[in-house]
Amino acid sequence: MSFHMSLQTGQTFPVERLRTEFPALQRAGSGIFFDNAAGAQVPQGVFDAINEHLLERMVQRGGRYPQSIAVDESIARARVSVGTLVNARNPHEIAFGMNATSFIRLISLAIGQSLGERNEIIVTDLDHEANVATWLALGALGAVFRWWRVREDGNLNLEDLAQLLSPRTRLLACPVASNALGTIVDVRAAADLVHAVGGEIFLDSVHFGPHGCLDVQAFDCDYLVCSGYKIFGPHMGFLWGRYELLERLPTFREDFIPDTPPGKIEAGTVVYENVAGMDAAVGYLARLGRSLAAGPDGGAGTPRADIVRAMQAILDYERGLSLEMLRVLHDCKARVHGISDPAQVAGRVPTLAFNIEGVTPAAVTETMARAGIGIRDGHMYSPRLMQRLGLPLASGTIRASLVHYNTVAEIHRFGDVLSGLTG
Ligand SMILES: Cc1ncc(COP(=O)(O)O)c(C=O)c1O
Repeated sequence: MSFHMSLQTGQTFPVERLRTEFPALQRAGSGIFFDNAAGAQVPQGVFDAINEHLLERMVQRGGRYPQSIAVDESIARARVSVGTLVNARNPHEIAFGMNATSFIRLISLAIGQSLGERNEIIVTDLDHEANVATWLALGALGAVFRWWRVREDGNLNLEDLAQLLSPRTRLLACPVASNALGTIVDVRAAADLVHAVGGEIFLDSVHFGPHGCLDVQAFDCDYLVCSGYKIFGPHMGFLWGRYELLERLPTFREDFIPDTPPGKIEAGTVVYENVAGMDAAVGYLARLGRSLAAGPDGGAGTPRADIVRAMQAILDYERGLSLEMLRVLHDCKARVHGISDPAQVAGRVPTLAFNIEGVTPAAVTETMARAGIGIRDGHMYSPRLMQRLGLPLASGTIRASLVHYNTVAEIHRFGDVLSGLTG
């Protein structure tokens, strides 16, 4: 069944066309990828960019010969496109590296060296542990921690954050969206509160990245980290930071590397082919945005306008997926954690954690696997959240995480298998 959902623009979301751009979806036949929060598939353009790099310019940057100059140019291009993806003011605010966790560690280590009197760090129990343990490690350097805890409904509440702030607040580390529950956090309001007491905000956008518009200017954040492999790129990570903050950060670098961003944050060789792949992933999103502009009020926009249009269309389409998942899970009597009321669907992305009375999470995911559906069970790397939800760490929850190339037809197959389990 082909299913197209109408967008606010009056156009339909071209899911079937987009699926043809993802070779892995074609190869999988009837297999269903519902574990996208752990890593998404990549479009053909990403393969092509990586291959081209390995074939045409598999050399070190910084030389005076053509292939080496081409590496420098490719990295510069990727910095511009990823800068556009997050709405950076300056491409030099973007750094490339191994993954999100290593960037959080890099920034936390730098902040740990400059704590002084302002030594309070606010962490949440909604986050992936990568954005918690990295900060807690600063206890040895004199950091004091305040916990912004999720309420019973699985949400972070701004009134609770306000209670934690003081002139000693150095930084709030929080997610833009929860990788376990799919809840979206009002990060702009959080940034306003933190800035009002002179603190900074570090955003983990790894989970939100594939679902909505990253915008460091609208978020008014100070740092933002993301992983390429969650946003239709290869295994790599990138960091955005306010230029003047990155300039001041103490980071490790060899003496001959200038103390300026992004070089001071990119010690050693990054995986250039993956940087090229990430550039191509942004290209895929921009192309999607351009194709949607070719409607009645169409016209060529800026690359940023194309990305904004693509992400808005993805957000709209995915809202439909969330609603259908909520309906199917409700019909199967699943206990959905976090936002389960269809009226609140705008507060979530289509990442759904649930448990089924009397059936272990592992039994559910094994049954799904036998039916060709990839989903995940366990603590989702958010062990503190599992504790908060009263779920045993060893078994945790079941998570189905969808992105824009998933379809309502796939949800119905998932529902058929689940209803077979729940009777
Ligand atoms: C919300 C979130 N933050 C951080 C990470 C860690 O990212 P990486 O594997 O790039 O270090 C993940 C990975 O699943 C995640 O979902």
